[in-house]
Amino acid sequence: MSKILFVHPEGETQEVEAAEGSSAMRAALTGGVQGIAADCGGEASCATCHVYVGEEWADKVGGPGLDEDDMLEFTACERKPTSRLSCQIRIDRNLDGLVLNLPESQ
Ligand code: FES
Repeated sequence: MSKILFVHPEGETQEVEAAEGSSAMRAALTGGVQGIAADCGGEASCATCHVYVGEEWADKVGGPGLDEDDMLEFTACERKPTSRLSCQIRIDRNLDGLVLNLPESQ
């Protein structure tokens, strides 16, 4: 299991456990994190699981794939260089302690 820290726009941090191989989105839903809607269930087709990867984690997490990159044009909040769809972030042990910042809305 790895830890993921979700940081709410107001600054509150919520820590959840994530099984390796699962997605950050799934960990958020399981952990009761508010602010991840995930309307499409993880198919990279709704952009309601948008997060901003913590700057210090950006290299480890990497950038979006082509389909994800297209869908990131439809986020409710501004897209930034570290924007990702959390359903497309696969958790492995290298991401233990990952920081994901939540946008104001999805
Ligand atoms: Fe729909 Fe991630 S859950 S794009």
